[in-house]
Amino acid sequence: MREMALGVDAEYSSRMHDLVSYGEVFADIYDDLYGGVSTEGIDLLVELSGSGRRALELGIGTGRIALPLAGRGVEVHGVDASPAMVARLRQKPNGERIPVAIGDFAELGSIQGPPST
Ligand SMILES: C[S@@+](CC[C@H](N)C(=O)[O-])C[C@H]1O[C@@H](n2cnc3c(N)ncnc32)[C@H](O)[C@@H]1O
Repeated sequence: MREMALGVDAEYSSRMHDLVSYGEVFADIYDDLYGGVSTEGIDLLVELSGSGRRALELGIGTGRIALPLAGRGVEVHGVDASPAMVARLRQKPNGERIPVAIGDFAELGSIQGPPST
């Protein structure tokens, strides 16, 4: 019923609110909860990035995957709905170098550049 009462923009705002809230709760503890990514995992992602060595991470978060991937020479771009999660990425070494667009990745076509800094 809630969905029926909301227009498309209101639905989007409500969804974004939920996504932003996730980041506000988890940003400070996320890396402690999940830890690092294995070397094998990063190796596989490097391989999957192909000869162009480019990747788009949907839900880039704190850069737990993106930063080691970028450190291996992959040009990583990200999308994330949570400014709090991306703020944690920005605090890390080289975290400011990764272009990130803030928005709902389910609406990729409507996310506007330029990326956040
Ligand atoms: C579980 S974390 C994973 C972060 C990172 N990929 C990693 O593995 O460490 C999920 C991330 O995706 C983001 N996210 C979830 N749904 C999203 C959506 N629809 N649009 C944009 N970001 C989203 C969250 O804000 C959060 O930063």
